[in-house]
Amino acid sequence: MIRPRPLTAAGLLVATALVVAMVLLAGMAALGTAGDSDPDDAVRAAPAYTPSARGTLRGLAPAGTLIGTAVDPRGLNLDPAYPGVLAAEFNAVTAENAMKWRNLEPSPGVYAWAGGDQIVDLARRNGQAVYGHTLVWHNDVPDWVSPDWPAEQLREVLRRHVTAVVAHYRGRVWAWDVVNEVLDEDGSLRDTLWLRKLGPGYIADAFRWARQADPDAKLFVNEYGTEGRTGKADALLSLVRQLRADGVPVDGVGFQGHLDAERPPRDVRGNLRRFAALGVRVAVTELDVRVRLPATGEGLRRQAALYRETLRACLDVAACVSVTVWGFTDARSWIPGYHRGYGAACLFDADFRPKPAHAALLDELLARRRSDG
Ligand code: XIL
Repeated sequence: MIRPRPLTAAGLLVATALVVAMVLLAGMAALGTAGDSDPDDAVRAAPAYTPSARGTLRGLAPAGTLIGTAVDPRGLNLDPAYPGVLAAEFNAVTAENAMKWRNLEPSPGVYAWAGGDQIVDLARRNGQAVYGHTLVWHNDVPDWVSPDWPAEQLREVLRRHVTAVVAHYRGRVWAWDVVNEVLDEDGSLRDTLWLRKLGPGYIADAFRWARQADPDAKLFVNEYGTEGRTGKADALLSLVRQLRADGVPVDGVGFQGHLDAERPPRDVRGNLRRFAALGVRVAVTELDVRVRLPATGEGLRRQAALYRETLRACLDVAACVSVTVWGFTDARSWIPGYHRGYGAACLFDADFRPKPAHAALLDELLARRRSDG
């Protein structure tokens, strides 16, 4: 299954109601047991979500473009409003962390599929495509993988990992980030455990292993800081061109899109186009637009404009298959934890109310519907 069949409106309502009921129950159970005070595990009570009378993102998205979100199991299992918004607004999902190696294989050969499977199963019920994230990365490698091992052993363990994960999700994940963030800021290959011990060939190997494990999954290179025309984007373009010239099965390029409202990338549309000209699909895989805190009206307006421009760039490029936001609610965003002084980066606020950025995406989708139809 590459593109799931869209649900009918009635089917969606029923699915949404079921999911909301299940998660309310789960949330109540968690309330009864969660005794510690980790704010990340707090239940966020929020008013029930009602879709805008103008429509939803997934409802207005043109055929051929998925509108996705990263999914955080804490939100899913703790926030009563989370599953309803997830089901109603998005037709694709990416596991924010659940499919990272450290979480999937806590000790050698012992797999913990539950988190990823929960997301995949829910996506199926919601009629959502699943984008797999991520097979080879320098972060979130389990501690038991030792940099002191000989190259052959490391290579074998990486091969086993890629093969096991892709095979487990075969037919249920339509695309994979096979390699994530392999470039350094200056465009050279990032100095990672994999590069140091295995040499640059680890990238081609990973793609070939993944292709073998699921011949139907689309295989992506995923990168940040390459949305606009940067030196790093030039380097990524050369890398992808070279890989394809070498016969490596690279089907797509993902542009993360962790953006700063005050520093919009330059010519995203033109940049996506030059990648598409290589014959690959392109996708915006992790879009969020951070603003300086406390967020001001002006900050949120700029944010909305940048979300809209990014969506527009994708819609203008035929090879652009999806725009995925990296979480949809400020209640669960990774930004405040990683970018000091920044936050409010998502489409919905911490109380699950749609922000101007959400309205701006609806504006864009509606405007295109009018001009297309
Ligand atoms: C982030 C998650 O959002 C956080 O919850 C986690 O603590 C760290 O990773 N680029 C990626 C994503 O490819 O996997 C990262 O996700 C954000 C940057």
